[in-house]
Parts: sequence; structure tokens; C-alpha cells
Amino acid sequence: MILEAQGLTKSFGEIRAVQGVDLTVEPGEILGLVGPDGAGKSTLLRLLVGVLDPDAGYAAVGGIKVGEDPEGARELLGYMPQQYSLYADLTVSENLRFFADMYFVPPAEREKRLERLFEFSRLKPYTARPAGKLSGGMYKKLALSCTLIHTPKLLILDEPTTGVDPLSRRELWDILYAFSAEGVAIVVSTPYMDEAERCHRVSLIHRGRLLVTDSPAAILGHFADELFEVLAENQEKARAVLSAVPGVRRCYPAGSLLKVAVAPGAGGENLVRRALENRAAPFASVEKAEPNFEDIFLSLEESFA
Ligand SMILES: Nc1ncnc2c1ncn2[C@@H]1O[C@H](COP(=O)(O)OP(=O)(O)OP(=O)(O)O)[C@@H](O)[C@H]1O
Ligand SMILES: [Mg+2]
Repeated sequence: MILEAQGLTKSFGEIRAVQGVDLTVEPGEILGLVGPDGAGKSTLLRLLVGVLDPDAGYAAVGGIKVGEDPEGARELLGYMPQQYSLYADLTVSENLRFFADMYFVPPAEREKRLERLFEFSRLKPYTARPAGKLSGGMYKKLALSCTLIHTPKLLILDEPTTGVDPLSRRELWDILYAFSAEGVAIVVSTPYMDEAERCHRVSLIHRGRLLVTDSPAAILGHFADELFEVLAENQEKARAVLSAVPGVRRCYPAGSLLKVAVAPGAGGENLVRRALENRAAPFASVEKAEPNFEDIFLSLEESFA
């Protein structure tokens, strides 16, 4: 176990940003912290790295409590905050060298590590470009490279893929997989539910609490309702009709479709079709669907409300 958290709790005045969070992370594991804006992701990550002191509970990195020995813990970890500040006037290469100096990377190691990070990040062609002139995706990849220069055993990354184009997003994940394969543990937050599936384990966070922590497959497997997608002529009307049907647990729009979660044994597809027909809410199709993390999140959020 490289990271352990017990009962981590933090409030800002009335706002209970993080409430009683327990976590463990093993070497090589990628744990995703997935939740919407304001869920408490950044606050939790700050508590894990010791940038913030908890009101209660503790975090320990490699057995070192971050509150007791912050320097010792920090040697083992690399932290990339949500708003990561590189030196805008320094080039890609200069930024990396600066961080190498700051972390006392031995000169014999330095060029080897730089080469490797340039290769991973595909920033090699841009080494002479000032960081302030990089695209959003390149900037994040450089920030990640700077976080990796001292070969930490634990990476704590706060929304590394937010605002990043799909290609750079995939490249960022590939870098994470490569380091995970070498035994580096990674805790990565994201507001994108679809990124949950990329992690070994996922914690869904809502209002400062972890709703569930498990493998993506196990979390998807826990979804008890039957899920249907309705293409209705008038989505609003269909939603009003279905929401009033006993046995319909949830009904919410997803783009042009209406998602309908029906309690097991309540009548499934027939229940949905009949309700729409009886109340004259025309539809083009009703189809069974597999739940995704968005659906899971909504169902859990409800049961924890
Ligand atoms: N320093 C602070 N002072 C006061 N309130 C804060 C502070 N930091 C966070 N909060 C509040 O705590 C709650 C959790 O915020 P946090 O930044 O941890 O969420 P988040 O999941 O990281 O959100 P986002 O996806 O927008 O980054 C929010 O209600 C936020 O407004
Ligand atoms: Mg945040």
C-alpha cells in the first residue's frame, strides 16, 4: 500500500468539502476520482498531498503521515494541481530542467529522463517553444512531465485531461499507463464520467463523500435497474408521463434520447411503451440500454441524498 487515507474531513465554513474519506492505493494502481464540479475532488487531493490540513483523519504516503512529516511524504509523490503553473517565458526544455534542479535529479540521470519524457509526451519537436505558447494539451503534458521528473512512487493528478483535445487526452492516458506498469501508483481526478472506465478502480465522489470505490466493471455490475432509451416526439411530455409511472425510478434526458430506469420486475419495456401509448405521448423507439457511469452516478447520488 503506497497511499492510505482514514476519515479525511475538511470544511470551509459551512461547506463540508470532504467528509470522512477512507482510501487505499496499491503500487501500480490507477485510482480515478470521478465527480462533478464542486464535488470535493481538489480538496481531497490537497489533503492527500498535505497542501491542506484536515479537520479530522489523516493521509499517509508509503507509511509516512503527511501531517507529521510533509517533507518525507513529498519526496515520494508528484502532485499536479488543477491550475498548474509552468514558467510561461521558459521553454519546454528549460521548464523541465528547472524542475529537475528543484528536485535534485542527479546529473547522470537527467538527460535520460528528459529524453524519455520528451518521447512519451511527444514534446520533442517543441522543446524550444516557450511554455506560454503551448496548446492546452501540450501544456498539460509538459506539466505532467515536470511532475514525473523526480520519479515519484505516487502521482496525484488534479484534472490532467480537462480542456484537452481527444488526441492529447489519449496520449496523457498512455503516459499514465506506462508509469503504472512500472509500479507508480496514480490518483487522478476527472469530471468526465467516461474516463472512469480507464482506471483500475474508481471512486465516485459527490458532495465530499465517496459514493462507491470499486473496479469499473463491478460498479457497472451493481446497477440494479433496467435501463431504456426512448426517442420521443416530445421529450418533455414523455418525461412528464414516465416520471409519474410507478416502477419508473428515474427519467432524464441524454441528448435527443430520454433515459428511463425501471425497477427490476416492474414491467420493463412493456411498462414504458404502455405508459407512453396510454397517455398519448408518441415515440419513435424504446430500446434497452447498458448503463454507463453517468447513469450509475445518478442512481447512487439519489440513494445517498
Ligand atoms: N479554499 C476554499 N475556501 C472556501 N470554499 C472552498 C475552498 N476550496 C473549495 N471550496 C468549496 O468546497 C467545495 C469543493 O470544492 P473542490 O474545489 O474540492 O471541488 P472539485 O470537485 O475540485 O470541483 P471542480 O471540478 O470544479 O474543480 C466547493 O463547494 C468549493 O466551493
Ligand atoms: Mg477541482
